Amino acid sequence: MHFKTIIEPFRIRQVQAVRSTTREERVAALKKAGNNVFLLKAEDVLIDLLTDSGTGAMSNEQWAGMMRSDESYAGADSYYRFEKAVKDITGFKHIIPTHQGRAAERILFGAAVKEGDVVPNNTHFDTTRANIEVRGATAIDIPCKDASDTQSILPFKGDMDIDELKSILDQWPDKVPMVMMTITNNSNGGQPISMENIRAASAVCKERCVPFFIDACRFAENAWFIKLREEGHEDRTPIDIAREIFSLADGATMSAKKDGMANMGGFLALNDDSLAEKCRGMLILTEGFPTYGGLAGYDLESVAIGLYEALREDYLAYRIRTIAYVGERLTDADIPILQPPGGHAIYIDAKAWLPHIKQEHFPGWSLTNVLYREGGIRTSEIGSVMFGQQRDGSERFSDKELVRLAFPRRVYTQSHIDYVVEVLCYINTIKNDIKGVRITKQPATLRHFTAEFETVS
Ligand code: F0G
Repeated sequence: MHFKTIIEPFRIRQVQAVRSTTREERVAALKKAGNNVFLLKAEDVLIDLLTDSGTGAMSNEQWAGMMRSDESYAGADSYYRFEKAVKDITGFKHIIPTHQGRAAERILFGAAVKEGDVVPNNTHFDTTRANIEVRGATAIDIPCKDASDTQSILPFKGDMDIDELKSILDQWPDKVPMVMMTITNNSNGGQPISMENIRAASAVCKERCVPFFIDACRFAENAWFIKLREEGHEDRTPIDIAREIFSLADGATMSAKKDGMANMGGFLALNDDSLAEKCRGMLILTEGFPTYGGLAGYDLESVAIGLYEALREDYLAYRIRTIAYVGERLTDADIPILQPPGGHAIYIDAKAWLPHIKQEHFPGWSLTNVLYREGGIRTSEIGSVMFGQQRDGSERFSDKELVRLAFPRRVYTQSHIDYVVEVLCYINTIKNDIKGVRITKQPATLRHFTAEFETVS
């Protein structure tokens, strides 16, 4: 079609009411939540951009699949439909369902990573890192050099630094049980990874006989960026690109709560027979029998259908354009964001936007509170509250203080998005009055989920 408006490629047939609150109500709710938006009740949130994980809307086809599901304990029809879909897209030999991504990580690392090992990744997601560190191993991030500049507009800032990868493999030839590539790079702005970079990492791993795994949560969004931005891929379909990505790897972990378009689910997929046997043994201990792995038959159905829906071109065009639109509007309003906009989220650079708030007073965290208080919008801090707490109890400031606006899939319309932009533009007019926060109570690890804060006067 020659019309240029990119529309939401669906009709809405079921709705969930959202509730407007007054500013006073939000101030009270925030106070009750210890100034931590994780501790708010969802009913007090108007637009929830906390995460794109498990928060998407399912299609009529997915619901139909769920009604058709088979709940047999062993060998359920739903498992075979799930296995067929995952094999068709990834090409891996063994498909092990898990209840979500981190369960796949725990099982894979439990089977393949031991104390003293080193696991490189373009950038580990926090659960990936935690599941490696809990084994007594070290998780090393090796993002490409371009990733550190938040303002450069480059196509593939999620890439891995291949020279760093080689030097790690030279330094610890016997200590690297696997290399991981996270697509897209969530902890680095949802930036995509080029096919060239995936091919290069895969080739290095093959040459050194080290298994290469993909953290595939947002594989469809990554495939779309490759189609849009990388020479030679413009005429390919997203599924064709995705198949090539997986063909370069020995296995993958997946949170189907993202590009599986499901509310719950995940998998571990791999080719190695003996590793698969070990993983299935561990799966039985905590997840369940290998044909359901912690999922209901209807979850397996929703993933089997959702994986294909995530690869539809009209969906991906709408999805990626939505994020880019927010990015353009904020950039026009001089609100600093990590550039260019990524696949599932906008990351506001709170350190640059609120330079009057010292890092010890957590500018990103303060901004999440203001976004809720002024507009009822829930977001998450990706900065020194999330990453600053060290295992020995000391503090280390993050190099970036970001606030992530993660967009659930197929949930919000353009006017919701326009509202979010309007709130941010309003905050831009009061930004000099925003105050920092300090922690009044925190747990020993993963403090962002439960810590409490007070405003610094
Ligand atoms: N890997 C990446 C890149 C992720 O973004 C996530 C989850 C996981 C692994 C773990 O998957 O949640 O199903 O266990 N990310 C969510 C987020 C939580 O908000 O970014 P999970």
